[in-house]
Amino acid sequence: MADYRIFHSPRLSGEVDVSTAKNAVLPILAAGLLTQEPLIVKDVPRITDVDILLQILRDCGAQVERSGRDVSVCAQHPGSPDNETMIRKLRASVLVLGPILARSGSACVFLPGGCAIGQRPIDLHVKGLQTMGAMVHAKGGQRQLSGKLIGDRVYLDLPSVGATENLMMAATLARGQTILENAAKEPEIVDLADCLNAMGARVAGAGTGTVVVDGVETLHGAVHKPIPDRIEAGTLLCAAAITQGSILIRKARPEHMRAMMFKLKEAGVGIRETPAGIRISGTAISPFEARTLAYPGFPTDMQAPMMVVALKCHGTSILAETVFENRFMHATELCRLGAHIRIENHFALIEGGHSLVGATVTSTDLRAGAALMLAGLICEGETILQDPSGHIERGYQDLPQKLRSLGARIEER
Ligand code: UD1
Repeated sequence: MADYRIFHSPRLSGEVDVSTAKNAVLPILAAGLLTQEPLIVKDVPRITDVDILLQILRDCGAQVERSGRDVSVCAQHPGSPDNETMIRKLRASVLVLGPILARSGSACVFLPGGCAIGQRPIDLHVKGLQTMGAMVHAKGGQRQLSGKLIGDRVYLDLPSVGATENLMMAATLARGQTILENAAKEPEIVDLADCLNAMGARVAGAGTGTVVVDGVETLHGAVHKPIPDRIEAGTLLCAAAITQGSILIRKARPEHMRAMMFKLKEAGVGIRETPAGIRISGTAISPFEARTLAYPGFPTDMQAPMMVVALKCHGTSILAETVFENRFMHATELCRLGAHIRIENHFALIEGGHSLVGATVTSTDLRAGAALMLAGLICEGETILQDPSGHIERGYQDLPQKLRSLGARIEER
């Protein structure tokens, strides 16, 4: 639950390693519930969201061990978690639903609860499992699902990342073939499918809109190293772009980051792919327009950091948020620093080029917190970033340390 003091910083320079992707690691750890043998996940980031999920997996009866950077999950007889407080803390807690139901024939979850950025229902997860034969009862803030799953054709009204993951995991142990239509295509879906296949599942088409899963009797243990975090890498690119920096982001995978790299180029930044990672130099100067969309569109998780880039560009940039209904809260905080931003429905109009002055701002969600940390680097004087809920530590491993290693002036209080 840190607060941060951020000072106007020089051009960032140097090299930095990107951590393993939070959004890949969470579903992959949940996949450990699908087998009674150990699943070993390599290079798991030290972030609070992972700690919470590991607690929930223990609550499900799994043996969970951290050994250095790796985590092993072994679930002999998984059952439903009953620690409602933990479940409500983490949206991704819903990812245990599909595996537990598929393994044991019944599962019960508390609704993960709303979230500052939007309502975030789980209707698509539940409807998909219902199509696969689960009976659903609502009881005291919980959903109870039961029944042997049978493969079927499931159409997702929206390409939800979490619903695609949950249904894909459940389908691995269903009887017969499941076809997920309008599935999410994010790299984290492909990574989960790779892990499931390493455990003996038969998943095809991950990364396209149609995922086909042929159910098998049992899965076995495996060792899997998830992909690097494209959102962390994108956040670091933005930090360089606003400070006229020149940095190399090692281990970043450009093929996962096309939309954000295009937008940064449009803003005038130089970006080069090298065998070692992504090299960025120069400064953002030209206004741009971006619309958040499901992958391979521009990621909603990059909307807040890109808003800070827009503050450096001379002219009006437009950001349209189409994925979550309430994801512009950082705009109000940025205005405290002197930013000129107007929100109209799903659009943010950002008039860049004004000088920013340090003030006290508050992080309202994970990506908003990161964006405010970046903004502090280009404010005159000192910015106090309050993060009473520890949003930044939930999803970024060592973000202030990484920025400091590149020359940023950030202190933790
Ligand atoms: C994941 C990511 C999150 C990212 C988001 C969108 C993880 C742990 N988190 O979240 O960082 O911002 O994808 O890229 O991977 N929806 C429904 N009903 C459902 C499920 C979703 O209406 O049953 C809606 C949501 O409210 C939202 C949209 O679908 O408006 C996309 O949500 P979804 O893709 O499910 O996001 P998450 O998996 O929760």
